[in-house]
This record gives sequence, structure tokens and C-alpha cells, in this order.
Amino acid sequence: MQDEDDVPTAERVPCRRGRRTAFAPLDVDDAELVHAWRSEPVAAHELGVWPRSLSAVRERIERDLEDTDRDDFVVLLPDGTPVGHIALVDQDMADGTASVTIMLAEQWRGQGLGTDALDALLDLAFGELPLHRIEAGTHSDNTACLTALANAGFVQEGTRRSACLHRGSRKDLAVLGILRSEWEALDRPRAWDL
Ligand SMILES: CC(C)(COP(=O)(O)OP(=O)(O)OC[C@H]1O[C@@H](n2cnc3c(N)ncnc32)[C@H](O)[C@@H]1OP(=O)(O)O)[C@@H](O)C(=O)NCCC(=O)NCCS
Repeated sequence: MQDEDDVPTAERVPCRRGRRTAFAPLDVDDAELVHAWRSEPVAAHELGVWPRSLSAVRERIERDLEDTDRDDFVVLLPDGTPVGHIALVDQDMADGTASVTIMLAEQWRGQGLGTDALDALLDLAFGELPLHRIEAGTHSDNTACLTALANAGFVQEGTRRSACLHRGSRKDLAVLGILRSEWEALDRPRAWDL
């Protein structure tokens, strides 16, 4: 397993920018990082993902890079340290909809970085792409994710009852969304103003 400190970041070119985070496009060379992040027990539990080999993660990233319906980013600190993965997936330009998924490395959670990265992703979705509605879903006990999404302006729209199985228990799936008009009403600087 590769340590984050060993990962060369010089070739990453940060693009989207939040107040405290930047994004760089996810590349195949990031497979070891993603593999480590998704293998961590809390992330695996909260995301409901199966353990996957490093080569399977690498192949998945390769396939995702071919997929024009998604944009995947490594979340970076201002000094280039990679702290997580965020993606705008299932982009449907006809309906103007997409979904967000996010995962931070364990040591970087609970410091506002998730909210900051979500803000920057919404600025991409509504400020650079003609999207109208962004959706997110998580099991209803994932308080950190629900709070970070609410901080970024998402509102809970519904509950898919008993929609997922985690650690032997059925969980409800909270469905959250934010509309373009709600993003426009947010009182915060946009990524391009920072
Ligand atoms: C979900 C996740 C991306 C959120 O990012 P983050 O940087 O930790 O979130 P933030 O610090 O911006 O905000 C979290 C909020 O939840 C609160 N929180 C965090 N953990 C909590 C917990 N266990 N119980 C209650 N509240 C909690 C924090 O206090 C903070 O609230 P505040 O802004 O009112 O102070 C990150 O925690 C993560 O990667 N978790 C594991 C994977 C995951 O769940 N992914 C999302 C699946 S949809």
C-alpha cells in the first residue's frame, strides 16, 4: 500500500479550486491512492463497497476515463497533498442531471474539506456545465456525509426505505438534491472568485 507522502504530486495540475482544496483530474497513476482510501474500513462501510484488488481499481479508473458521462478528481490541499476523491457521475446533459460521490482519506475527515470540495464541484456543475439538478445519496446513518451535503446546500428530498444492506442491517437510503436556483441563491464566493 502506497503512503500518501510517497506519492509524487509535481505532475498533477490543479484545476477546480475551493477555499481550502483544489482538484486535479483522476488518472490511472492514482489507483494506489484510491485503492488505499476505499479499503479503509469506515469508507468501505459508509460507501458500501467491496474489497477490490489494486489491478481491478486501476482497470476501473481506465474504464471511467473513457466514460464521457463522468468527471473524476483527486481532491488536493493547497500544497498538493492528495486527500480524497470526488466525482460528478451519471451526467445527463439532456435532462441536466448528475450525481456526486465523495470519499476523503480518514485523517482528513471532519475538518470541513468535504464541504469545501462539494462546493467546488457544484460550482463546476452549475457554473461551467449546463446542469440543473445534482443528486447525492447515502445511507441515513452517515451523519458526516449528510451534514457535509447539507452544508453545501443539498436538501433531503426523500428516503428509499431499506434500500441498502450494511454490516448485516438494512439501512434507509437518504436521497438529497440541489437545484440550479438553490445554488444561485447560496451566499458564498464561487470557485472562480477565489
Ligand atoms: C462524507 C465525507 C466526504 C465528509 O467530508 P468531511 O470533510 O469529513 O465533512 P465536513 O468536515 O465538511 O463536514 C462534516 C460535518 O459532519 C459532522 N460530523 C462528522 N462526523 C460526524 C459524526 N460521526 N457524527 C455527527 N456529525 C459528524 C462534522 O462536525 C461536520 O459538521 P459541521 O460542519 O456542522 O461542523 C467524509 O467524512 C468521508 O469521506 N467519509 C467516508 C466516506 C463517505 O461516507 N463518503 C460519502 C458517501 S455518500
